[in-house]
Amino acid sequence: MKQRTVFKTLTLGLAAAFCAATLPAAAQQAKIKVGLMLPYSGTYAALGHAITNGFKLHVAENGGKLGGREIEYFVVDDESDPAKATENTNKLVKRDQVDVLVGTVHSGVAMGMAKVARETKTLFIVPNAGADELTGALCAPNIFRSSFTNWQPAYAMGKVAAEKGHKKVVTMTWKYAAGAQSTEGFKEAFEKGGGKVVKELTLPFPNVEFQPYLTEIASIKPDAVYVFFAGAGAAKFVKDYAAAGLKNSIPLYGAGFLTDGTLEAMGDSGQGLLTTLHYADGIESKKNNAFRLAYAKTYKMQPDVYAVQGYDAAQLLGAGLAAVKGDIANKDALIKAMEAAKVDSPRGAFTLSKAHNPIQDIYLRKAEGGQNKLVNVSIKGLDDPARGCKM
Ligand code: BEZ
Repeated sequence: MKQRTVFKTLTLGLAAAFCAATLPAAAQQAKIKVGLMLPYSGTYAALGHAITNGFKLHVAENGGKLGGREIEYFVVDDESDPAKATENTNKLVKRDQVDVLVGTVHSGVAMGMAKVARETKTLFIVPNAGADELTGALCAPNIFRSSFTNWQPAYAMGKVAAEKGHKKVVTMTWKYAAGAQSTEGFKEAFEKGGGKVVKELTLPFPNVEFQPYLTEIASIKPDAVYVFFAGAGAAKFVKDYAAAGLKNSIPLYGAGFLTDGTLEAMGDSGQGLLTTLHYADGIESKKNNAFRLAYAKTYKMQPDVYAVQGYDAAQLLGAGLAAVKGDIANKDALIKAMEAAKVDSPRGAFTLSKAHNPIQDIYLRKAEGGQNKLVNVSIKGLDDPARGCKM
């Protein structure tokens, strides 16, 4: 009996020693801490949830792991409030000691996150916020984006509006970085194509008292209107635009955030709207079909561009972690692998620019039923100019 116990102890000890010697180092390490800083309240709440869902879907498809390491989540609601950005980011970086920061939706909040990420050299993946500076003047080896710059979809829509022969356009948006840069991107291509932006209307974020601005648009009588709005505010704007009787007289265009994830809330008012974005619901590819099916099955809802960006943020991190076998401390090799990744996205495969922003097709889409249907590829492989990036 005694002999058997000694034998059992020895066998277990040997087995443990064998496992420690043969299991890859990553499998023996602690979980990788992912800090999700996103809006879970306010006008962008649905966007934050969709990004979270997309990220978690890819991790779940990999058995809860990336690069062989289990993933543990730490979550902060940033409320799309730039004034709280530093404090909220520090909750994840300093208090929770996350290995990687993932966030956010609002450009102003993302700028605050970037400041902390640059100071602490924390790996930072942006799954939405388009602030041009993140992959422009503030680009850094540890900052990556799985989404877009504000310039990209806006520039494509400027080109489309000019090609349609519009000459005189009014723009309207919330007064913060995303709105301003989206307007600039549109204007750059539209005026290059022979048009003129005759008035730039803005209101504070996230105000939705649109009526006085709609009255002004009606009095200017432009050929068309270009807007940047997203989330719940976008749905309200489109409904108000139609209710003011403008939909049938002055064509409304937007960066695709106007109609992504918002069509159901808009009802008939959204039907027929043309927008440009790096995703369309009807992209026919094995990857997109599989993604849409898995997302619908898991979350009992249809995915949108935000879900795609969250999914791709996890894919991008996964590509880096796979290359270093889960050793996230091997930063240089991890960053190199992320830079070289070809992300098999539902939007179509993309690579990253030198500034770490996706080089991607921008689609023209038409809202029909509950979908933003693909009309054509407006600009193939559009690379952001990354103005001011020295990397
Ligand atoms: C931004 O603030 O960058 C943003 C917010 C919502 C949708 C797209 C961009």
